[in-house]
Amino acid sequence: MIDLKQYYDNRAQEYEQIYHRDDPVRQSELAKIKNLIRNSLRNKSVLEIACGTGYWTEAAVKSAKNITAVDYSTEMLGLAKAKNRKANFLIDDAYSLKKVSGNFNAGLANFWFSHIPKNKIKSFLNTFHNKLQSHSKIIMLDNIYNNEIGGELIKRENDENTYKNRTLSDGTSFQILKNYYNEEELNIIFKQYSSEIKTYFGKHYWWIKYKLN
Ligand SMILES: C[S@@+](CC[C@H](N)C(=O)[O-])C[C@H]1O[C@@H](n2cnc3c(N)ncnc32)[C@H](O)[C@@H]1O
Repeated sequence: MIDLKQYYDNRAQEYEQIYHRDDPVRQSELAKIKNLIRNSLRNKSVLEIACGTGYWTEAAVKSAKNITAVDYSTEMLGLAKAKNRKANFLIDDAYSLKKVSGNFNAGLANFWFSHIPKNKIKSFLNTFHNKLQSHSKIIMLDNIYNNEIGGELIKRENDENTYKNRTLSDGTSFQILKNYYNEEELNIIFKQYSSEIKTYFGKHYWWIKYKLN
């Protein structure tokens, strides 16, 4: 876990390159998700988990009533704060959300679900959902596994999670936890919390929109 924080602190300056790849399919999927976020979070009080550099905070803040965005990397959050003055940014751990208070009726967590160890998914979702009103709308998105992109998927003995090797432009290397899900697995996880779930699978990204029970 310490590695993941170090990884994102070190990666902060180059992080948003992932959003500017010259790939029309990616760009069109990202544009669809942006629209979904703007429309679904209109006039909502939003709690965003693991906001990173605030790429999606910026998209959400345009239509949301207000947004509180949390991350534990000071470097990522520093960049988010610098470009977005309307959101309320907090350094906090997604698994405790101790500093978060507010009357939220929507949630957002992008490219975060894949980093949650499988044995912490339930406790994360309970902590997150406990900060939200009943019937809150939640949107999450993440990567779809593609064996030709992003290097080998690494398995460890007696470990249900998977990992990827990542090297930053300064040459530092990290092995980070990265889990991938198919539509059925997502539905099994989220149906415990919602009877209104919509999942979308594109070529590169999946996204889910659900309404808390
Ligand atoms: C892939 S980035 C996603 C950033 C942003 N949501 C986006 O989609 O561009 C994952 C983020 O999770 C944050 N993170 C990882 N573990 C965390 C934790 N335990 N608590 C809070 N943030 C965490 C990292 O600092 C990083 O900013």
